[in-house]
Parts: sequence; C-alpha cells; structure tokens
Amino acid sequence: MSPIALLKRIVPDDWKLYARTRRIDGHFRLRTPDRIFLEETVFPWFRDEAGARDVLDIGCDWYTRAYPSLLRADRYHTIDLDPDKARYARGRDGDHRVGSLLELDQHYDAEAYDLVICNGVLGWGVNDDDAIATAARQLARVLRPGGWLVLGWNDMDGYRPATLAPFDAPPLARFALPPIDADTHLTPTGSRHTFRFFRREEENANAAR
Ligand SMILES: C[S@@+](CC[C@H](N)C(=O)[O-])C[C@H]1O[C@@H](n2cnc3c(N)ncnc32)[C@H](O)[C@@H]1O
Repeated sequence: MSPIALLKRIVPDDWKLYARTRRIDGHFRLRTPDRIFLEETVFPWFRDEAGARDVLDIGCDWYTRAYPSLLRADRYHTIDLDPDKARYARGRDGDHRVGSLLELDQHYDAEAYDLVICNGVLGWGVNDDDAIATAARQLARVLRPGGWLVLGWNDMDGYRPATLAPFDAPPLARFALPPIDADTHLTPTGSRHTFRFFRREEENANAAR
C-alpha cells in the first residue's frame, strides 16, 4: 500500500472533513465540491430568485450552521432525530424539533413551507423502501403547492438509498433548477453526493395521495 493510501486509510473521516473546513463570516463551512455547489449555486438561487421565505431543513450538523444565514429566510426550521444535533440548529426563529422525517405530521402543518431541504438523510437512517415512501409522502405534505424540495444523497455502495421512485410520483415532480438547467446534479466528490430538485404540483396535491 502506498504511503498516501495508508494515510487515507488511517486518518479518520472527521479529520479529512476538518481539513476542508474554513471559517467564513463567523461560520465553519465545508469547502468540498458538494457544499460549494449547495451553498454557492443552489442557496443563492432560492434566496435571490425564488424568494424562499419559509424553509424546513431535515437533519443538522456542525457544517450546516451557516445555512439559515445563507438562505436568509423568514422562518428556517430544523428537525433531527438525534437529540445531540440540536446544538447545531440555529434557525432564525430558533425552532428546532427532535423528531423524525417519517413523522413530520406530528410537528408541522400541511403546506407550511416553500422550500424543504432533505440532504443526507436517505441512506443515513431512512433506508428501506417503506421508510423512503413514507419520507416522500411526509415531505410532499409539508410543501406548499409550487414549493421546492431539494433532495441530496450519496450514490455509493453502503449509502445509496434503496429506492427514489416514491419521489417520482404525484404530487412531486422533478424540476430543473434554473442555474444549472437540470433536475439532477452529481457533484465531483468521492461520496458521489447527488442532488435532485422537485416541486409539488400546484393543486389538489394532498387529495391525490
Ligand atoms: C449525514 S447527516 C446530514 C446532515 C445535513 N442534513 C446535511 O446537509 O448534511 C444525517 C442526519 O440525519 C439525521 N437523521 C437520520 N434519520 C433521521 C430521521 N428519520 N429523521 C430526522 N433526522 C434523521 C441524523 O441524526 C443525522 O444528523
């Protein structure tokens, strides 16, 4: 094994991430191609062009603390199953819930958000077909008609979601994100971090499910 391969093997993943971390405007931010895409292409479009005002973000970590400031929404709500993650949640109005993506209806009204971010949760706890179908239903329910869903996952063995088919069914439909003119974007990362963009149909969406 080459010295570089050996180093890659023995350095814990967290340290690799810390090496790609920079402090920007008071926040620690990951400077990896996936985060740069999310933070510098996706978020600015939702902030400046789509005017996303009510945002729900599923799953938090230290490197997502800047997200409320980057999106500048009126309401930036967060939820994570792990109580330890609450310390990373700094929604503008401080609304963080300890709870499951699979039970959003226990926490939020239907049609409450115009942008929902579900990044790195499928394949990281929400893994099997049934759970993913429930996740799609719950995410669609909290979106306003016309609202956007940003779905992110790792397209690699061990993390690839069992299925994404439930997202390709009404009331959700894939939509091309204008700045990239595509509904799906694979970032140049070892984890094959992939983003896909959906919108909820404008009318009678919940009645159809
Ligand atoms: C890889 S991290 C992703 C964090 C963040 N969303 C991001 O942009 O990277 C996965 C997070 O999902 C959370 N999680 C796993 N299953 C969940 C569920 N059913 N409901 C809510 N959060 C969940 C974990 O606790 C963890 O904090």
